[in-house]
Amino acid sequence: MICVGQVVTDHTFRVDEVEAPPSKMTARGYARSVGGMAANAAIAVARLGGRAVFWGRVGRDEAGEELRHALSEEGVDADGMLLHEGAKTPLSAVTVDKRGERAIVSYRGEGLPTDPAPLPLDRIAEAGCVLCDPRWPEAAELAFRTARERGIPSAMDAERSEERILRRLVPLTDSAIFAKTGLSIFAPGVPPEEGLRRALESGPLGLAAVTLGEKGTLWRVPGMEETGNRPAFPVDATNTTGAGDVFHGAYALATAEGQETEAALRFASAAGALRARDGRTPDRAAVEALLKGTTDQPPVRRRRKD
Ligand SMILES: Nc1ncnc2c1ncn2[C@@H]1O[C@H](COP(=O)(O)OP(=O)(O)O)[C@@H](O)[C@H]1O
Ligand SMILES: [Mg+2]
Repeated sequence: MICVGQVVTDHTFRVDEVEAPPSKMTARGYARSVGGMAANAAIAVARLGGRAVFWGRVGRDEAGEELRHALSEEGVDADGMLLHEGAKTPLSAVTVDKRGERAIVSYRGEGLPTDPAPLPLDRIAEAGCVLCDPRWPEAAELAFRTARERGIPSAMDAERSEERILRRLVPLTDSAIFAKTGLSIFAPGVPPEEGLRRALESGPLGLAAVTLGEKGTLWRVPGMEETGNRPAFPVDATNTTGAGDVFHGAYALATAEGQETEAALRFASAAGALRARDGRTPDRAAVEALLKGTTDQPPVRRRRKD
């Protein structure tokens, strides 16, 4: 699995309520961790038993070095991560309230190079699936085109981004899996069912889907009469940050393993639900247990402990 796109340092603050300004909030907890759609997806792939390669770009600064190290510690091959002299590494301030809902301020970094030429594109031929988010569109475009030429499956985390970027990238992938806002930017002013139809018509896609948090996932494949609904696994969410990223990583891994669309969506939903429940990325055994309905762990309520 090759994951291409965003990596950031997440600074997570646990608060009771996210208050509207002017306000002053007290954090009950703080943590610093790897974030970013493609990077979180790569970590998910590794935890779920796959081999993950991450391609992204950061500054050659302390945060950039730390992120590369953290990805390697997770078992992700981060050799293709470009550390750029003089650039600033992206970061996010994440506030999580007592219901596990988050508000994110993300800083996209500065001076990051856009040219994807240094990436070892030949490795795509060995991949089981290529997953890209829209934060490094030049690299995503090249990776999707290369994957399509070589007959390698691909998937896109079609998150909130500029309309022109989504329009450029969605037709190039096999599985476009939108976040709610991403879909409304791609197909403004129409219901999600119609947005998914338009995504499928934009290119030779095999799947268009949109994730809706605890409301599950709507999906369409070519020739389908009605939009499918993959319900979410009911969990007691403590932190929904990264649920979508983990969902995408798990979906792409399942695709690489040869799972059919519906099975892959179910697998991804289980992984996303566990991430939302525990605030950390699950391993394969936990996902399989949830899928088999043999999970006997009570919902984890981390914040009660601190
Ligand atoms: N609170 C939750 N309970 C159960 N499953 C969830 C929850 N939040 C997310 N998920 C799962 O993860 C997927 C992606 O979450 P979502 O919040 O839609 O993405 P994003 O984090 O990109 O906004 C959902 O489709 C669902 O399967
Ligand atoms: Mg997302």
